Amino acid sequence: MEDWYMKRSFEEALKHRRSYYSINNESPISDLEIEQIVNTAVTHVPSSFNSQSTRAVLLLGEHHLKLWNIVKETLKKMISAEAFVQTEAKIDGCFASGHGTVLFFEDQTVIEGLQNAFPSYADNFPIWSMHTSAMHQLAIWTMLEDAGLGATLQHYNPLIDDEVRTTWDLPISWKLVAEMPFGTPTAEPGSKEFQDLKERVKVFK
Ligand SMILES: Cc1cc2nc3c(=O)[nH]c(=O)nc-3n(C[C@H](O)[C@H](O)[C@H](O)COP(=O)(O)O)c2cc1C
Repeated sequence: MEDWYMKRSFEEALKHRRSYYSINNESPISDLEIEQIVNTAVTHVPSSFNSQSTRAVLLLGEHHLKLWNIVKETLKKMISAEAFVQTEAKIDGCFASGHGTVLFFEDQTVIEGLQNAFPSYADNFPIWSMHTSAMHQLAIWTMLEDAGLGATLQHYNPLIDDEVRTTWDLPISWKLVAEMPFGTPTAEPGSKEFQDLKERVKVFK
């Protein structure tokens, strides 16, 4: 499969990435190209000890809709009917309305293997696993946007973990970390405030 080539420079794409809550189910690129974006990230994003613990699931079409139905059915059992009205509207309008969803997992078998192999780092491997997952999330988020799509990052895990695992017959060792619904943006995100860089970055020279 071909590599994915970005239109913007890395710096431009990073500056351009936002959360898009208003999305429809169209895509300016083919599903194969979306798959290539996921493959590029999963292949090239680094991981501690090159352990490659990240797993990704790309849900398109009926599968994407099935995921958001799982989220709705799960939440329906947990919150009041009143609260659910709002929740359902948000899920339908901001997430299910999109073209697809990327699910991010970390394979716990890999992490346990590292802990056994390198006991002195045992406490760090679960933390580094989250680091590499986050790097994959940013890479895919940024590449999807570069391709003309808009995405958000959602966390309905661990509530939906069991249902997701059984629905797509995924290994029990795959721990769900985040869900990224995406589609063609139908509205621009609002303005964003940036804290003073002087408070956040120190340079010594
Ligand atoms: C680690 C992390 C967790 C986040 N979790 C959620 C989430 O559960 N739901 C959500 O709607 N947005 C979530 N976001 C999105 C942030 O709220 C958003 O990125 C931030 O407000 C900056 O806005 P921007 O993405 O438009 O630049 C998350 C972002 C990060 C980096």
